[in-house]
Amino acid sequence: MGADVRRDIDLAHASRLVNHGPTVLVTSAHAGRVNVMAAAWSMPVEFTPPRIAVVIDKRTFTAELVAASGRFGLCLPARALADATYAVGSASGRDLPAGTDKFARHGLAHFAGPVLGLPLVVDAVAWVECRVIPEPHAQAAYDTWFGEVVWAAADDRVFSGGRWSFRDDNRDLHTLHHLGGGVFAWPHGTVQARSSPGP
Ligand SMILES: Cc1cc2nc3c(=O)[nH]c(=O)nc-3n(C[C@H](O)[C@H](O)[C@H](O)COP(=O)(O)O)c2cc1C
Repeated sequence: MGADVRRDIDLAHASRLVNHGPTVLVTSAHAGRVNVMAAAWSMPVEFTPPRIAVVIDKRTFTAELVAASGRFGLCLPARALADATYAVGSASGRDLPAGTDKFARHGLAHFAGPVLGLPLVVDAVAWVECRVIPEPHAQAAYDTWFGEVVWAAADDRVFSGGRWSFRDDNRDLHTLHHLGGGVFAWPHGTVQARSSPGP
């Protein structure tokens, strides 16, 4: 994968990237350190301006970097990144020796996000840069961070026309959904509901 399949998406459609509950990789950077962790708990909270909430445990290195920098990235892994997703969600980047980080340790190449310069995982299928909306109470009491989406992109083989397109022929690009203990489900397909005649 790479820049050739990555298409900027209309920010009005950014909520659809996480509406269906995918596991995300939360990326962060501050003062020369970069980091990535897995998060199962993220969701859209507003269409316009696009806003997303994500739970980031205050004990994580990610929380420290996000608090210090005021920004975070979300990258959506697909099947090829299942092992790396579980690995970056199972160990902290805080204690790694100087000169290395979890991207390098787990073979996750990254590129710089175009608006905030966040490290974003090349081999993901969607990418978001968020500026933190400070909510000190939610952060302290619920480990919940709100972000305004300032840039979003997706792999156009699996997200086009403003929505996901999960089909048999792109199965390897479907998002991951954590069931616990490193077991992930992935969507496999879709069903179109018929519009109801109304009351
Ligand atoms: C699949 C998966 C989902 C996770 N979801 C979350 C989550 O939603 N919020 C959270 O704070 N931690 C979550 N974690 C745990 C963090 O990823 C984990 O604490 C990580 O080691 C933190 O790394 P850091 O200290 O380098 O930031 C999850 C772990 C896995 C494996």
